[in-house]
Amino acid sequence: MLTHKIVLLSGDGIGPEISEVSKKILLKLSNKFNFNIEIEEELFGGIAFEKFEDPAPKSTLDKCKSCDAVLLACVGDSKYDQLPRELRPESGLLKLRSDLNLFANIRPVKIRNSLIESSSLKKEVIQNVDLVVVRELTSGIYFGEPRGIIKNKNKERAFNTMVYNTDEIERITEIAIQIAKKRNNRICSVDKANVLEVSQLWRKTVENMAKNYKEIHLSNMYVDNAAMQLIRDPSQFDVILTNNIFGDILSDLAAMLTGSIGMLPSASLNNIGPGVFEPVHGSAPDIAGQNIANPIAMALSTAMLLRIGLNQIQAAENLELAIDNVLSKGFRTSDLDDGKSEIISCSKMGEKILEEI
Ligand code: IPM
Ligand code: MG
Repeated sequence: MLTHKIVLLSGDGIGPEISEVSKKILLKLSNKFNFNIEIEEELFGGIAFEKFEDPAPKSTLDKCKSCDAVLLACVGDSKYDQLPRELRPESGLLKLRSDLNLFANIRPVKIRNSLIESSSLKKEVIQNVDLVVVRELTSGIYFGEPRGIIKNKNKERAFNTMVYNTDEIERITEIAIQIAKKRNNRICSVDKANVLEVSQLWRKTVENMAKNYKEIHLSNMYVDNAAMQLIRDPSQFDVILTNNIFGDILSDLAAMLTGSIGMLPSASLNNIGPGVFEPVHGSAPDIAGQNIANPIAMALSTAMLLRIGLNQIQAAENLELAIDNVLSKGFRTSDLDDGKSEIISCSKMGEKILEEI
């Protein structure tokens, strides 16, 4: 029997609660679809800092590099805000992304029919939304040098650098093209080319690449306009291709179209090694430990792990269908409260999903 090795990083805040749900889901699916799953849990984020004074310990990173896929919940807590930047949980996450060379972050945004009333936007605006944000993840302003803070006598100066090379733009564009080809062949590349040189290079490179694919329809949009269009008429988008920071911001924005950021999964990939599959939301320390978090974004990330990371397509489809069924039956966690549904806990939501598998 095929055995898949998974590393699970449950991290901080609500991480352990939502991880419990995904662990049970993986075990049930592996029984149903006849594969073995070995789950190794490692410390990562704030919890790893507590033990090793390092949010991304080498032992954890090594385990991640040698498994088939990594399932990550979330990291961070305001209690680490005062730490030097490199010791913060978020820096651990950036280290994981860059060490595993996960340059492509895929964030699908699909409206689930049963949740249409939970969005803060009108039904007519969101009903046909089905888009994917393809975000460059290991370069841009997040990693650009020089960066720093210079302390002078009476004032401080801080700076970061937004930088891209042609090859970095090309490889993420290639991913976006491959994804668009399996969808509706439309890519909207989002930049700020009216102001930034780095965006001029981005636009030129994306346009040059797209020329090689006759079937691809490429459009370009400035990021401020893209933010507006995502609220005004989100169904115009198919694949949104963008840089690291614009993708960070636009994907939170796009997540809310679905009613809750607790619904959005993501995959961070490269062309060879294991990918990292994680919900888009953060660690929500304010509700941690209360068993009220929404485990669905992580469960949907688990479905992406099964499909993309392990090629267990049937198991992935089964899981997505199970989640849809639970939602259609009117069960919700409190973030999705529309006044009409039955509100259940995180673990109960897990049980409901398991029942449908
Ligand atoms: C995300 C998060 C991270 C990011 C943080 C936690 C470093 O917001 O995955 O979108 O900015 O990339
Ligand atoms: Mg973000």
